[in-house]
Amino acid sequence: MVDIKYIGHSAFEFTTKEKSIIVDPLVSINEKYDYKNSNITDIFVTHAHSDHIGQAVEIAKEKDATITAVPEIAKRLGEQEAKTRAVGFGSWINYDWGRVIFLPAHHTSSFDDGSYGGVAASILFDIEGLRIFHAGDTCLHSEFKTYKELYRPNIALLPIGGNYTMDVEHAVVAADWLGAKTVIPMHYNTFPEIQADLTKFLQLMQVNNTQCCILNPEEIK
Ligand code: NI
Ligand code: MN
Repeated sequence: MVDIKYIGHSAFEFTTKEKSIIVDPLVSINEKYDYKNSNITDIFVTHAHSDHIGQAVEIAKEKDATITAVPEIAKRLGEQEAKTRAVGFGSWINYDWGRVIFLPAHHTSSFDDGSYGGVAASILFDIEGLRIFHAGDTCLHSEFKTYKELYRPNIALLPIGGNYTMDVEHAVVAADWLGAKTVIPMHYNTFPEIQADLTKFLQLMQVNNTQCCILNPEEIK
């Protein structure tokens, strides 16, 4: 059983029997979440924007965890004395708890100082046979159809806030193209520019016959 925890924004924790991994760890957004309680061994960052790098370096050092990211991000965070693993797109990367594939997202990626953060990623996780697609920040693109064919994701974590990423309407199409039976919305209502109409999202998803799971970071345990 993989436990999925929505920390907030695009930050998630996936927990297996004894290990946890976290993605896009902007943990400062949720005061109820304390990473110190989790046995985090790996941290994943989809792209260099600060709302996705979050507290990755701090957590990596505290937990002696490894940050996996594209080379530009791995290099930069490695310079801050975090353990890193640089990866590219398109191959399975193995861990003792499962495996992942980095896939290109359609989005920009730069550090706060404006320097280049490499190509933005979506990440597909395969943990104990459960396939979780974390879209990162991206627009809808037709490769989602190929991901369905190649990877058969069970759960899709999709941005719905618009402005920087896909919005509600596009996320509904993304869910359909990915063929995921369960969708968890993310990257909405955390900034003024990314307000989303959840009622509309739920309505559209019903038509789609996809289970929509709204996780409230306030109710995190
Ligand atoms: Ni971004
Ligand atoms: Mn973002």
